[in-house]
Amino acid sequence: MLILKSPAKINLFLKIIGKRLDGYHELASLFQAVDLHDILSFQFADSDLLECSSTNFPTDRSNLIWKAVDLYKKKSGHDFKLHVKVDKHIPVEAGLGGGSSNAATTLWAINSLFGFPVPESDLMRWAAEIGSDLSFFFSSGTAYCTGRGEIVQSLNPFDLRDVWICKPAMGLATPQVYKNLDLADLHPHCPQETLQEFINGQPNYYNDLEKPALALLPELNSFKQSLLDQGFKTVMLSGSGSSFICLGAEPKTSLGIFSCKASFINRSLDGWY
Ligand code: C5P
Repeated sequence: MLILKSPAKINLFLKIIGKRLDGYHELASLFQAVDLHDILSFQFADSDLLECSSTNFPTDRSNLIWKAVDLYKKKSGHDFKLHVKVDKHIPVEAGLGGGSSNAATTLWAINSLFGFPVPESDLMRWAAEIGSDLSFFFSSGTAYCTGRGEIVQSLNPFDLRDVWICKPAMGLATPQVYKNLDLADLHPHCPQETLQEFINGQPNYYNDLEKPALALLPELNSFKQSLLDQGFKTVMLSGSGSSFICLGAEPKTSLGIFSCKASFINRSLDGWY
């Protein structure tokens, strides 16, 4: 049996460049893996089975884990049955990439069970066929991502940093947030300059998806304010939400239905996280 961590991601900044003809949005974002993670175990078996510790986690073929299994079969020509167990800790509809991470971890796990026949660069490319956020997980854990998110440039790890991740009860579906985006109402940040500021240790946190998310779910405004009232210097939506990343304070009370302190993590390129 192979047991792997499947980490969450946060976006330290997220710039939307524009809308593409294929309906996706061109973006530039600094992705960071954090030590909030699910635990996945994998075993070849006589029949396919997906089990999860959480009841609100679909285990049917719509789950991205099965999409990863089917994609690996199609691309590699290998046939197999897999038993996957998920110990779920990353909240869903949170903008933390939990489903994408599970699917990326599954691709890596199957390849590992077969003795690594497929180069990681191929897995990273295949991953983009499942979703825009998967390819990032094949990076070092810190990456500048462009295109629709699938063009990944690994970066040196940042100094170890902690961030609070807090989620209210309500969640957000990514397509709705993108649909609610007003391209004419974006701050004209230059993402390459922002990236350089992070590398120079002068971070400038922003997320172009925050405004449309707050407009879609106005209750998020008071949730954000309650986090600012804790004394955090930075409170920003993670990805398409509805969780927030909070920096610069230690909270005095519990925050939302989910909150945790998470550290940045990275991986050596000969292993998983
Ligand atoms: O790629 P993924 O399946 O994760 O994307 C989910 C949805 O989010 C897409 O169908 C699209 O509506 C939106 N999206 C987008 N631009 C991106 C990534 C996602 O518009 N770069």
